[in-house]
Amino acid sequence: MNGGRILIAYFSWSGNTRGVAEEIRRQTGADVFEIIPVPAYSDDYNTVLMEAQEDQH
Ligand SMILES: Cc1cc2nc3c(=O)[nH]c(=O)nc-3n(C[C@H](O)[C@H](O)[C@H](O)COP(=O)(O)O)c2cc1C
Repeated sequence: MNGGRILIAYFSWSGNTRGVAEEIRRQTGADVFEIIPVPAYSDDYNTVLMEAQEDQH
């Protein structure tokens, strides 16, 4: 640690990245900010694949 503050900013659709972010927070004491998209992505996997492709256009 160099005395600077650390921010973990993450987005997680199904929870995997959230778990990683929480583990990094546990090990570093960093601040955590969850990015929550508006409108939310679908809970349905096939639908969210289409939404993600649209977002890349
Ligand atoms: C829109 C979308 C596309 C994905 N595409 C792939 C892919 O091409 N290959 C792959 O191995 N995993 C793919 N995944 C799975 C995620 O990369 C993986 O499960 C990741 O751990 C999800 O993190 P999360 O639980 O924080 O959302 C995709 C997930 C989503 C939501």
